[in-house]
Amino acid sequence: MTDKYAVIGNPIAHSKSPEIHTMFAEQFKGKPEGDMVYKDRILAPLDGFVATVERLRNGEFQGFNVTVPFKQMAYELATIQKLSASTARAANTLYLDPILGDLTADNTDGIGLLRDIRNNLAFNINGKRILLLGAGGAARGVLYPLIDQSTFMTQQSPSHIVIANRTPQKAREIIEIINERDFILIAGRVDSSKPLSTHLSAASYDELLNQQFDLVINATSAGLTDSEISLPSTIFAPGALAYEMMYGRETPFMKFAREQGAAIVSDGLGMLVEQAAESFFIWRGVRPDTTPVLAKLRETA
Ligand code: ATR
Repeated sequence: MTDKYAVIGNPIAHSKSPEIHTMFAEQFKGKPEGDMVYKDRILAPLDGFVATVERLRNGEFQGFNVTVPFKQMAYELATIQKLSASTARAANTLYLDPILGDLTADNTDGIGLLRDIRNNLAFNINGKRILLLGAGGAARGVLYPLIDQSTFMTQQSPSHIVIANRTPQKAREIIEIINERDFILIAGRVDSSKPLSTHLSAASYDELLNQQFDLVINATSAGLTDSEISLPSTIFAPGALAYEMMYGRETPFMKFAREQGAAIVSDGLGMLVEQAAESFFIWRGVRPDTTPVLAKLRETA
């Protein structure tokens, strides 16, 4: 029987996930991996997420993507929490473990961001100084993959990550989560003798004065309300990449980055496609080609 997948959120009408996964499935037409449909956008009531997830347990669906505001709930509900979900304390991918049958939560946002930066934008983060703006769920979702050297089975990692937030205490708290996690993870590293080589620190926006970064990632939700983030104009190092995790329109952060001389300014559409590809890989065991899918979405944007 054809496997079924869907995305759950509230609101959800805007989601491009069904379109993206349908294009991925077409790449495997006629093969068991492509024998799936992903067309439903499920609008769960704010108090109805748990009931919706039951549709996975009863076999109606084989996997769900989860978006705002249910990512944290998806993580908490799962019996098996994959590492990228537990470091983020949030999940965007749900399925039943094929052997145990337990509800499993994963988070593909971080790897999606990394693949977009590395493969689509050809930007190497090794030894670079990174500024991560924001300390909410979106920032937590990408922080660990940015410093985890084993993500691509390489020893590449940034030299520094500064997490800056309007409320700096929240930035300090997410560093504490990483530090706890790192202790647990050490034994599982590709090279366990090598301690974390990225220097992590927290800052307020004012404290960024006179600092420069090779990569500035906007993980705040300021773009949703077209709000500007009060950043010093000198934060972009020569050749810097400014990355906005939102997509759909030019945000004040992107405008600011262009005006202040960032060499590359990108929205988060590539991250969206890459995180979907990673979910597809988790569910179907094969990796789709993201290049034509991203090109198609850019065409129609
Ligand atoms: P998300 O899941 O999208 O990360 P969130 O957990 O509510 O949402 O976090 C929103 C992030 O955007 C926070 O880092 C928030 O800063 P505060 O922690 O100080 O509230 C940040 N943010 C939202 N609006 C902002 C604005 N206008 N300027 C700067 N930061 C903003």
